Amino acid sequence: MAHDLSDAGFGTRAVHAGHALDPQTGAHAVPIYATSTFGYFNAERGARLFGLEESGYFYSRLSNPTVHAFEQKVAALEGAGAAVAFGSGMGAASAICLSFLKAGDEVAFVGPLYGGTEGLLREVMSGFGVTTVEAADLDELRRVVNEKTRLVWLETPTNPTLRIVDLQAAAGIAHAAGALVVVDNTFSTPYLTRPLELGADLVMHSATKYLSGHGDVVAGVVACSEEHSAPLRLHGLRHGGAVLGPFEAYLLIRGMKTLPLRMDAHCKGAHALALAVQDHPAVQAIYYPGLPGHAGHDVAARQMNGKFGGLVSLDLGSREAAFAFLNALTLFTQAVSLGDVESLSSHPASTTHQLLGEETLARQGITPGLVRLSVGVEDAEDLIADVRQALDAARA
Ligand SMILES: Cc1ncc(COP(=O)(O)O)c(C=O)c1O
Repeated sequence: MAHDLSDAGFGTRAVHAGHALDPQTGAHAVPIYATSTFGYFNAERGARLFGLEESGYFYSRLSNPTVHAFEQKVAALEGAGAAVAFGSGMGAASAICLSFLKAGDEVAFVGPLYGGTEGLLREVMSGFGVTTVEAADLDELRRVVNEKTRLVWLETPTNPTLRIVDLQAAAGIAHAAGALVVVDNTFSTPYLTRPLELGADLVMHSATKYLSGHGDVVAGVVACSEEHSAPLRLHGLRHGGAVLGPFEAYLLIRGMKTLPLRMDAHCKGAHALALAVQDHPAVQAIYYPGLPGHAGHDVAARQMNGKFGGLVSLDLGSREAAFAFLNALTLFTQAVSLGDVESLSSHPASTTHQLLGEETLARQGITPGLVRLSVGVEDAEDLIADVRQALDAARA
């Protein structure tokens, strides 16, 4: 008999939610349903399935049992009524735009957002008559939202400057203007922050990152109410087509079972690293919400389950110092992405955020000397030694 998970803790839900023993075979792991299509058994049922009068599987662009199990697990962890999986985080972001925006609408965001999201809003959606407005902080957000604002798009901690946005306060501002609140929860994960409990309407992830955790999948997901999931499924999947495959869903399910264990290790390692290198002479500024001097420390302490995430950003003063540092690292692979068990390092201004242009980068504090470290689950002493020797190299 399946265990009732309604009162279960986060770790229990991470392991068990979304799937039970396969009723036909007793398979313990979720089977990978590698099928594009599903027989209707009779024409009448086919008509009912297509008319959405009966729920069931009929084509894997719309839904697939393995993908559904992943969606159920995400919904259980985010405390959502539903979740819809997509082929990438950007697929999830595009689906939100396709489903909830129309010409004449405005989107407000508290910058910076992930470069791809900002590009989608500013460059793609502007061509469809949607205006995007950036706010530097919540005071400015209060000034820019108006009756045309349909979405308020938030990210916390922000990529790559690790600013903290007070979600409850931002949701209050957005809802007062009648806007929906989108939170990109990629950096925090539901283990640290559950935005729906703080007033968000739609929670999106690049599931490529911590949800998968092993750097072997590109995926996205949106958690929300049943009501909001309907347009996401219709426009994001049926019409938009940014579908997740069953093999990727299987890997995500497997990865998410250890989400709390991995997040504890990421947070512990990142905190130890930040404390160990904050006073190194090559470090001109350090961004880690766990440090008491960080501007968002108090909000983060309240909003992130007493932990502060696995990312640390350092400003080394110049592009030359940043490049020398990155080239000297040995345990941190130079690569985009984050949230893998392996440590990763990047130079946002010349990679993920390059397309934003110099003016936006300067405004958002994405300086030429900024490097972003995604702290893996290796032993913290080894990571600290590696970063220290690379900082020494950057000074030389
Ligand atoms: C915060 C955030 N949101 C969205 C994305 C886009 O996700 P994906 O690369 O899975 O399309 C990324 C990718 O780095 C990200 O860091």
